[in-house]
Amino acid sequence: ADSYPFHGPNQAGILTPAPADKQNYVSVAAYDVVDGTGKAALADLMKTLTARTRFLTTGGTPANLGVSQPPSDSDVLGPDLPADGLTVTVSVGSSLFDDRFGLAAQKPQRLAPMKAFPDDSPDPAWLHGDLSLQLCANHPDTIHHAIRDIAKHTRGVMQLRWKIEGYNSPPRPSGTSRNLLGFKDGTANPTGSQAQNLVWVADPAEPAWAHGGSYQVIRLIRMLVEFWDRVSINEQERMFGRRRDTGAPLDGNTEFDTPHYGNDPSGAVIPLDAHIRLANPRTASTANQRLIRRSYNYDLGVDPNGNLQAGHIFIAYQQDIHRQFETVQDRLAGEPLVDYVQPFGGGYFYTLPGVTNPNDWYAHRLL
Ligand code: HEM
Repeated sequence: ADSYPFHGPNQAGILTPAPADKQNYVSVAAYDVVDGTGKAALADLMKTLTARTRFLTTGGTPANLGVSQPPSDSDVLGPDLPADGLTVTVSVGSSLFDDRFGLAAQKPQRLAPMKAFPDDSPDPAWLHGDLSLQLCANHPDTIHHAIRDIAKHTRGVMQLRWKIEGYNSPPRPSGTSRNLLGFKDGTANPTGSQAQNLVWVADPAEPAWAHGGSYQVIRLIRMLVEFWDRVSINEQERMFGRRRDTGAPLDGNTEFDTPHYGNDPSGAVIPLDAHIRLANPRTASTANQRLIRRSYNYDLGVDPNGNLQAGHIFIAYQQDIHRQFETVQDRLAGEPLVDYVQPFGGGYFYTLPGVTNPNDWYAHRLL
């Protein structure tokens, strides 16, 4: 069975191997906790969420409640529930720390509502939330089933605010998945101990309950694909700094070659404003600004003008939103790519520390 361990110091779905042949589907759902429920009710909600995600990500046989009540399971996945590579990653927004639950003093230091950056086109219908769930799995019906199960068990306590589905391609023809601009996306993600050291919050200045968690940044970024398809290959490649066919940096030969900006100080080979060069200048002083990206493609059909409404669900994890995401985002402001993309939604969330054992539950140390 394809299942990822549920218990541990950190949640799954963050450093769980990035999609390419597994977990090629995602749903990101933001919820509001219904007002006036208080801290005890929030604890009950967290216990319910823990019980459901523990069961859904492990798989098994749903309880048989007999024929005179609504069945315990929808059977969308058949009578024996497969884990199917499901991970559910639970995070909280800054609004959860307002007066409703008396948690203001426990708020992670960097947690605030996501601000609008230059070139953003924010749409309130697609922004923020008290909670976010990132569900990744090998098939889309597995995600639908899980969200529906969670909705049924949390009815009246948490309410969907926005939700988006995404997918990734298998290696075409090899290496990392491609985004809808045709480029391999995720190549330079930190891995191994480097990733561990960039992603888990351990700062003594952060509240103790939050250690082992991570800051989650979600950016819903529309791609103007019809416009992009009229750009020459040279210009496309200079915007990213990589080859479209292989994913190699413009000064290299294969996808995982390292770019050497020191040999190209004037940007003759990889332009100074290329996405990869701005995003990660690869200097000693910017090394701790790297973040873990886990992005998917989305397709929302057609807009009112008859254009394809598709793009990028950018999801990043890090220790410090300010030191990592915001610093990188500020450096990317005004890059040539901004003419072809349109960020419109998402939010900042705090991914809770892991559920460590069968008696533990999400946010136990907070509540
Ligand atoms: C690298 C696409 C937005 C941060 C890349 C690469 C592509 C890409 C194709 C090169 C391959 C790779 O290493 O993954 C895009 C697209 C975006 C977008 C299409 C918007 C629609 C962002 C945003 C950020 C970001 C908002 C963060 C603020 C990075 C980083 C790298 C990268 C850190 C790795 C650079 C390196 O270490 O060499 N992106 N990206 N990207 N991107 Fe983006």
